[in-house]
Amino acid sequence: MAFIFLVIAKHKYYLRTVNLKSEILKRKTFAIISHPDAGKTTLTEKFLLFGGAIQTAGAVKSNKIKKAATSDFMEIEKQRGISVATSVMTFEYNGKLVNILDTPGHKDFAEDTYRTLTAVDSVILVIDCVKGVEEQTERLMEVCRMRQTPVIVFINKVDRDGRDPFDLIDELEQKLNIKVRPMSWPINGGREFKGVYKIYDKSINLFEANKTKISKDMVSIDDLSDPILDEIVGEKNATQLRQDVELIEGVYGDFKVEEYLEGREAPVFFGSALNNFGIKELLEKFLEIAPFPQGRQSSERKVEPDENKFSGFIFKIHANLDPRHRDRIAFLRVCSGEFERNKFFHHVRLHKNMKFASPFTFMADSKELLENAFAGDVVGLYDTGNFKIGDTLTEGEDFMYKGIPSFSPEIFKELINLDPMKSKQLEKGIEQLTDEGVAQLYRQEPGNRKFIGTVGELQFEVIQYRLENEYNAKCRFEARNFHKACWMTGDADAIVEFCKFRQKNIVKDKDDNLVFLAETSWILNTAIQQNPKIEFHTTSEFKV
Ligand code: G4P
Repeated sequence: MAFIFLVIAKHKYYLRTVNLKSEILKRKTFAIISHPDAGKTTLTEKFLLFGGAIQTAGAVKSNKIKKAATSDFMEIEKQRGISVATSVMTFEYNGKLVNILDTPGHKDFAEDTYRTLTAVDSVILVIDCVKGVEEQTERLMEVCRMRQTPVIVFINKVDRDGRDPFDLIDELEQKLNIKVRPMSWPINGGREFKGVYKIYDKSINLFEANKTKISKDMVSIDDLSDPILDEIVGEKNATQLRQDVELIEGVYGDFKVEEYLEGREAPVFFGSALNNFGIKELLEKFLEIAPFPQGRQSSERKVEPDENKFSGFIFKIHANLDPRHRDRIAFLRVCSGEFERNKFFHHVRLHKNMKFASPFTFMADSKELLENAFAGDVVGLYDTGNFKIGDTLTEGEDFMYKGIPSFSPEIFKELINLDPMKSKQLEKGIEQLTDEGVAQLYRQEPGNRKFIGTVGELQFEVIQYRLENEYNAKCRFEARNFHKACWMTGDADAIVEFCKFRQKNIVKDKDDNLVFLAETSWILNTAIQQNPKIEFHTTSEFKV
């Protein structure tokens, strides 16, 4: 009898493992990132159209925050509210399940974007061919490089008079500090744009401005010397294309998928999201080469996605500012095993077991109750204050996922309590808001001074408003002229000595790490030179 049970148990275990593996191999979880206006929303929408997740163009409101509203944060919050449903978009295409994680384009929410990048396995970076590499693109790429995230570059808007494609890819290499490999190449540009040549399969995709349907004008050629090329794109364009491709093949060599998967080489595609041109090719190549959900490092060990036991981490918390629905939504990235509704999981930081009755999945423009989820999936959990960013859930094991970095803020202000009778409320409020990732909190002893660091002015308005409305506490902010927050590692005695000397610039972050707030880059450089035994870091990622 015992033998039969053992066989059944083994068989069940085997089936579960096979099932887990096939679910993982089906999934691709990625983010589309860009400087605002490069075309992220348009591209996302075209992907969703291909996947049948939406039926018409214009359906994705996304996290795009309208320019006119930049000074009105309540308006922005309203738009963010709408965007919760589109924070993750899931669709199926050619048997694959694709999870697109949306990232806010607005600069003031850059920290949100950085955190979202910790929850994806790869990235598509959209570049505007007229503007080239812009400031925010560089910063986003820095984050990708830190984590060796595989990146595909999509150069958008080739229907417009853009920059020379060779200039663009040179700029990509220089400013983004990554090797690139053109996979397609534009034939002329702007009003004279004829189409793209797909280097990897030697076919030509002829351009036809078409905003809704899929262009079918694909011409295969055996060889670039084929005279049909001159016929279809004109002699001058054909000659130029032959020269360009010869140069590309000479300079760039073969595309190596391993280099891409290790985050060392970025394949580059050209197209026009608005015209639905080059999008299908991009999507299909992406599905072919992009990594499926990968293993992740935890505080104890590397966790593989096909391990039988569930684990995942919270990478984003969205608070609802509407006083009638004061719920928070925590976004959980599943890293291993199977997440199940109503099953008890272990909240590692709080040492408590929790189950979730209404977890949900995001389907283009709606939320749906979810029964189970696998590695790569993102689950929405209603939260009443149990979670902070970086929290880990497991099936019992005690480990924390690594790699939710804090970046040095750009704007620093001191939080001044305006109502001493409400100090407790203020403490609680600022603690919880910073747990959500609205801003970073640094405390200074003695005196319990609180400095708030953000990447944008908007967050100060958000904090002030929410402290008043949710916690009944009043505050104001006083600007502090700090240039960078630097985490310190190295020789313990040297750090103690340095902190004594620089007392008024030393604070502690939320995890009690020592942080040096340097007033200027000159002061920081001097500190670096004078303290060779201390390493100064502008992100907290060194800890992981
Ligand atoms: P974002 O999410 O990265 O901020 O950019 P989004 O997709 O909203 O695109 C920004 C603008 O660029 C939009 O125009 C969009 O229509 C346009 N665009 C996107 N792809 C292409 C393309 O391939 N070619 C051309 N010519 N334009 C493109 P808008 O006028 O700002 O907004 P809308 O009124 O069209 O929505």
